[in-house]
Amino acid sequence: MDAKTEELRAAHDVLAELYAERLAGVLDRMPIEQAVLGLFCDLTLAAGLGTTVADVGCGTGRLAPYLAARGLSMQGFDLSPEMIRVARRDQPGFRFDVADVRDLPLPDAALAGVVCWYSLMFLAPSDRPAAFRELARVVQPGGYLVTAFKAGDGQLRRGGHSAGLGVEFDVYWLSPAEMERQVTSAGFATVFWGGRPAEGGEGSPQGYLVAVKAS
Ligand SMILES: C[S@@+](CC[C@H](N)C(=O)[O-])C[C@H]1O[C@@H](n2cnc3c(N)ncnc32)[C@H](O)[C@@H]1O
Repeated sequence: MDAKTEELRAAHDVLAELYAERLAGVLDRMPIEQAVLGLFCDLTLAAGLGTTVADVGCGTGRLAPYLAARGLSMQGFDLSPEMIRVARRDQPGFRFDVADVRDLPLPDAALAGVVCWYSLMFLAPSDRPAAFRELARVVQPGGYLVTAFKAGDGQLRRGGHSAGLGVEFDVYWLSPAEMERQVTSAGFATVFWGGRPAEGGEGSPQGYLVAVKAS
């Protein structure tokens, strides 16, 4: 594991319990996020490719109940072993495993869809093509990808310090154009993109994209 990935993994190990505490129930109060995830769920089910989806960069697994309630069978992956420990504890009944988005332990075309909710914004520009190719590899033709991300100028920032737990890592507020470029270069076509201004203490606008893997 390279030093930047190790820093990111170690930081999220430290942040796992804080995320569990701060993010519990938050999706229930976020109708835009629910609508984007709901669109992904409806499109995935309508594609008729089964119900198996992965949440890559699942963190504490907080999206699992929502995806299940919308009819999908989800499995979560995360770089951070501590996030996976918390996800297994807080979301029993779902499967969670440690894995990197650039090397997923799944066969080709295993999934009807993949969720990457605020988990692709840590990738350095040089790492993005491999990560998006890996996401395309595991999704069936006609299956869907949904991603949420901090939207911005694409510049490298240091994140994590605001938690006050002594951790930091690289993060990029991606431009929607860059997100779309990566998705389409990997073999997906955009079916929906959108965004909203920052709310409360968020610090950045939010971007959302749903794409379909070319048949
Ligand atoms: C901001 S958190 C979001 C967690 C979850 N998706 C949510 O919305 O609550 C980002 C998560 O992505 C994970 N992550 C970052 N880079 C990753 C990578 N290369 N592969 C897998 N997971 C990654 C982190 O460990 C962290 O749990």
